[in-house]
Amino acid sequence: MALETPGTNPIRYNGFARLLHWLMAALVLGLAALGFYMVTLTYYDPWYRTAPDLHRSFGVISFILVTVRWLWRKKQPPPAMSGSLKPMEKLAAHWVHHLLYGLLFILPISGYFITTAKGDAVNVFGLFTIPAIFTQQPIANLEDIAGFIHLGLAVCLLTLVALHIAGGLKHHFIDKDDTLTRML
Ligand code: HEM
Ligand code: HEM
Repeated sequence: MALETPGTNPIRYNGFARLLHWLMAALVLGLAALGFYMVTLTYYDPWYRTAPDLHRSFGVISFILVTVRWLWRKKQPPPAMSGSLKPMEKLAAHWVHHLLYGLLFILPISGYFITTAKGDAVNVFGLFTIPAIFTQQPIANLEDIAGFIHLGLAVCLLTLVALHIAGGLKHHFIDKDDTLTRML
């Protein structure tokens, strides 16, 4: 199986890939924090409407960024992994990256179904809207089911991100290889 085939830059991810990675990382961690915060708000809190508006808008941006990153990755494959990685580590990194992409795609889609379950469009920063597919819930409690899935996927994503960060730091500080510097 071809794992992370070498790209044009053999040492580091190219500048655009690095920019997208760190933008995505900041956005996803911010969205998760905002998501957990906003579900604790009560009707009279000044952020009651603003926080979900921002969450949905930035969530759509994260979806766009991940799509751009994925298309860019197809055009410019990542540099070969550090030679010091064992085959098992390469396989694990390969699957963690693909699972991260999978979750980064379907998490915003589940969010879209929470918002649009009853026919509401998704308003993105008041600039444009993404219409709902259904005018009324095609199955009972679609909003709740999508909410349950959204929470579950967010927990899976955060668990995987924690593993991913631990891996990056381990390679940098313990193995002292170039895994992290390739992304800096
Ligand atoms: C929400 C946070 C994050 C997400 C969603 C995320 C996602 C990803 C994804 C999808 C890749 C694969 C890139 C590709 O090959 O196309 C990647 C690579 C990488 N990430 Fe992250 N990342 C996050 C945070 C971090 C942090 C905080 C670090 C620092 C320790 C980090 C270090 C790296 C490194 C070093 C690579 C390259 C690994 C390799 O090529 O083997 N990431 N990240
Ligand atoms: C990477 C992107 C996203 C992340 C990491 C994320 C994360 C979260 C988290 C952690 C929660 C709290 C869940 C709970 O405690 O029940 C949440 C709630 C929510 N998210 Fe997202 N979200 C993302 C994208 C989106 C998008 C694109 C939308 C809509 C278009 C959206 C709509 C919602 C809604 C409506 C809630 C409130 C659910 C409820 O009231 O139970 N999210 N999100």
